[in-house]
Amino acid sequence: MDAQEMRETYVDFFKGKEHAYISSAPLIPENDPTVLFTTAGMHPLVPYLLGERHPAGTRLVDFQKCVRTGDIDEVGDASHLTFFEMLGNWSLGDYFKKESIAWSYEFLTDVLGMDPNQLAVTAFEGEGDIPRDEETASIWRSHGMRDDQIYFYGKEDNWWGPAGQTGPCGPDTEIFYDDGRPKCGPDCGPSCHCGKFTEIWNNVFMQYFKDADGKFTPLKQMNVDTGMGLERILRILNGKETVYDTPLFTGIIGKLEQISGRTYGTDVEDTKAFRIVADHLRAATFILGDGVTPSKMGQGYILRRLIRRASRYMSKLGIEDACMQSISEVVISEYSKAYPELERNREFILTNISGEEEKFRKTLTKGLRRFNEMLSENGDRKVLDGEMVFRLYDTFGFPVELTQELAAEQGLEVDIEDFNNRFRTHQENSRAGADQQFKGGLADHAVETTKLHTATHLLNAALRKFVSPDIQQKGSNITAERLRFDFNLDRKCTPEELKAIEEFVNEAIRAEIPVVCEEMPYEEAMARGAIGVFTDKYGEMVKVYTIGDISCELCGGPHVSNTSELQGFKIKKEESSAAGVRRIKAVVGKFD
Ligand code: ALA
Repeated sequence: MDAQEMRETYVDFFKGKEHAYISSAPLIPENDPTVLFTTAGMHPLVPYLLGERHPAGTRLVDFQKCVRTGDIDEVGDASHLTFFEMLGNWSLGDYFKKESIAWSYEFLTDVLGMDPNQLAVTAFEGEGDIPRDEETASIWRSHGMRDDQIYFYGKEDNWWGPAGQTGPCGPDTEIFYDDGRPKCGPDCGPSCHCGKFTEIWNNVFMQYFKDADGKFTPLKQMNVDTGMGLERILRILNGKETVYDTPLFTGIIGKLEQISGRTYGTDVEDTKAFRIVADHLRAATFILGDGVTPSKMGQGYILRRLIRRASRYMSKLGIEDACMQSISEVVISEYSKAYPELERNREFILTNISGEEEKFRKTLTKGLRRFNEMLSENGDRKVLDGEMVFRLYDTFGFPVELTQELAAEQGLEVDIEDFNNRFRTHQENSRAGADQQFKGGLADHAVETTKLHTATHLLNAALRKFVSPDIQQKGSNITAERLRFDFNLDRKCTPEELKAIEEFVNEAIRAEIPVVCEEMPYEEAMARGAIGVFTDKYGEMVKVYTIGDISCELCGGPHVSNTSELQGFKIKKEESSAAGVRRIKAVVGKFD
């Protein structure tokens, strides 16, 4: 099945259930300055979920373009994407669990022809005042799902929203595709990441409002909010290994093969490059299609990062000439039927993408040469100092994340605090001045890394509490999107441990604990039991950051002044880093 057929089949099915079709909202949220991009189909519908009347009625269906920027640097593997499409249907105080589940089941099995034995579903197991969702499980049973296909999970897995700090939210039931391979262990289930299960659809029963104090009260109307990832469902229906093998990417990757003279899927490094370029230029075309231009801030900065990272990977594919326009043209022609704004804004998209490409191509080669010189100047040091990184940014237009990626390929880290300090000083001195400083983009970058810095201290404390008191930091790297923390442990963390850690950190965030910074002599810090790297500090004054009774750590900062600023904490990955060293990647923010 191709993408347009899938979009139409979905919309038609729900039209048959008296849903009104609404068109995709722009990628730039119209009423929400707190997020850069629309990240889910419900985002533009928040006022209606809260009770405002929607002009199209109480049953809606759409496909919504979305951008999530948290994992830009992970794109290149089999599953990460920055741009994706979400198929969704809504009940605004109309039908509830029974109909929602019945229609999802009917759509997947009757319309798409999926085998019910290849489905697994989840339900909320209950927490605090909110009871276990037996109703959902019994509805699934009434459709023939066996108990061994129904899994109960807690808030981490089976609760969705709010998208912001406050707003509509509720328990959900998620529908997974089970590829039939044996379970990887006794705990394997839909929440396991071994690859057996792929989430395809999330039906949220939005019946609560979370307020600023973290309290849940029933909403005046009971809503349903669903979301199905178009890329994933196409991957499964077409029996493909990755989302990049679906019809959504055939044209784009085909064009890249033609330009580069290389074949997708033959060489590991090339395959990664093909995926990065395909994802980033598809996303960039859509962002441009909503009128954003590349810039130093906000959405424009994300756009710039995507185009510049794509440019670097195009050169890895041996592409000598500027050719982003021709890729954008493929995106426009293939996606305009579903998103006519692309065709309407064709000239704007093409002019801007090639303008940005030209600008960066002029400096990419020189910048890479300079980077290599810096590597030799840096000698054996494992950290690239902020001044070098700032020079690459200022003179050659290298987004700091690009330099971080280049450094990581050489086993080096970037001194991001130092870079941020230089960036801030530069901003203050520049014409734009302090006014623009906190408006977004790179300035946001500093704000985000500060939050992640504090999150790192909380994570460190949680690891010592739940995993082992002997845990010590072996490495730390922070970008605007995520923290990465390496620590000594000669085994995997268990899912229970990770859950406990995540809950502990989130509890600390909800508890709104002040983060206190004090300067004191090194000896005094030691006497207080502060943890941290104590070398050559005798007699020196050191900075100690204390977070309630949770954490006391020697550190240069900067940190947020209250844990609540982190809003939320999520572990994205736990993996091996080196022998006896584990690595956790985590993010902060409002999760949706
Ligand atoms: N809003 C829900 C999600 O994004 C459907 O998963």
